[in-house]
Amino acid sequence: MNKQNPLENNQVLASKQSWPWWPLLPLYPYGRRRTLIKELIPNQIWGLEQLQGLYYVAVPVRLTVVKVSGGLMLINPLPPTQEVLEELSALEKNHGPVLTIVLPTASGLEHKISMPALARAFPKADLWVCPGQWSYPFSLPLDWIGISSKRTNVLFEDGLPHSECCTWIPLGPLDLGLGDFQEIACFHQSSRSLLVTDSLVGIEANPPSIFDLDPTPLLFHSRDSGDQLLEDSLKARRKGWARLVLFASFLKPYKLAIPPLSSVIKNSFKQGLRSPKAHFGFYPFKWEEGWEDSSRELIGKKEPLLQIAPVLERLVFPRSKNVVIDWLDTLISLKVTRWLIPAHYSAPIEFTPNKIKILKKKIINRAWANDEGNWRFLDSLDNALLDRGVVPKDPQKIFKD
Ligand SMILES: [Fe+2]
Repeated sequence: MNKQNPLENNQVLASKQSWPWWPLLPLYPYGRRRTLIKELIPNQIWGLEQLQGLYYVAVPVRLTVVKVSGGLMLINPLPPTQEVLEELSALEKNHGPVLTIVLPTASGLEHKISMPALARAFPKADLWVCPGQWSYPFSLPLDWIGISSKRTNVLFEDGLPHSECCTWIPLGPLDLGLGDFQEIACFHQSSRSLLVTDSLVGIEANPPSIFDLDPTPLLFHSRDSGDQLLEDSLKARRKGWARLVLFASFLKPYKLAIPPLSSVIKNSFKQGLRSPKAHFGFYPFKWEEGWEDSSRELIGKKEPLLQIAPVLERLVFPRSKNVVIDWLDTLISLKVTRWLIPAHYSAPIEFTPNKIKILKKKIINRAWANDEGNWRFLDSLDNALLDRGVVPKDPQKIFKD
């Protein structure tokens, strides 16, 4: 029995969850990253989830652990806190050592940032990265961003890891002006699971269980004005979650107004809100009537709603719908897919060939590169980048060269 008092227990946990490199990419929850481990496919695939976001707009981010012959493969790095390393060590005892670490995205900074620390934690593991790695504002060599080029292999250019049990399927590259978008999906044959990074997500109405460890972001955003206290209930959590999803998907949702600074300040520093946790009552948001309806296009009622991540649809693929359709056709041609495991939101999600066909049909039949409602802000961003010549009009030219 643990004889320590709760305060000491919390201190031990806080030190296990500490992530000292957080200033490199200062995202919520900053220096303390709680981790939740889930067995996603019995005895074959596990997910380690943390929260990551800006200003309490936090969504789950996942490192996926896959059983391969002789050991384990880690896909989509996460900050390797002591808690993460202990969970991985427990898996290693039963399934063999971590053999391989894969960063399957060229651009996803939130996945890239912890690759060096994770690689140092497993010095014997082979490292693989997606081709076309880039950094902004300067394009730096891999070694400069902490990824040892001597130890690192590039997917496809240097071969492919664990091809005896995995099929690797590229999406892209597309020229984004600042660098390429590309991610490499991994189809794990024995579990019939497709592992992706950012391209596909499934979102459901109930908030992910990682928020049970600390529901503050949900409660913070469930309020209608800054003077309301953070009160916990299932209803408040679901309301906060729907708003977080709208923020994370559209950056500035259609039904969100920014109140005048005078009213934001008037509502601040009320009793019960004078704490950093409540941001001292500073709450610069005003949700307009009908906001719930606008979240229905994203969130599945009974099961996760499968979709191309909206930010990617509107900022990466607005002129490349054909690339998405071709990729979905490749996934359909695998014929035996069963599950989808993305690096964000719900997992595993049902992903049979029939489900992919339904998604493809939906994409073909609806407006693409939309500029209406929730899509307005992303549309204005895309147009501004196009006007300034930052993004090319034809991102697929690198295919044609
Ligand atoms: Fe991501």
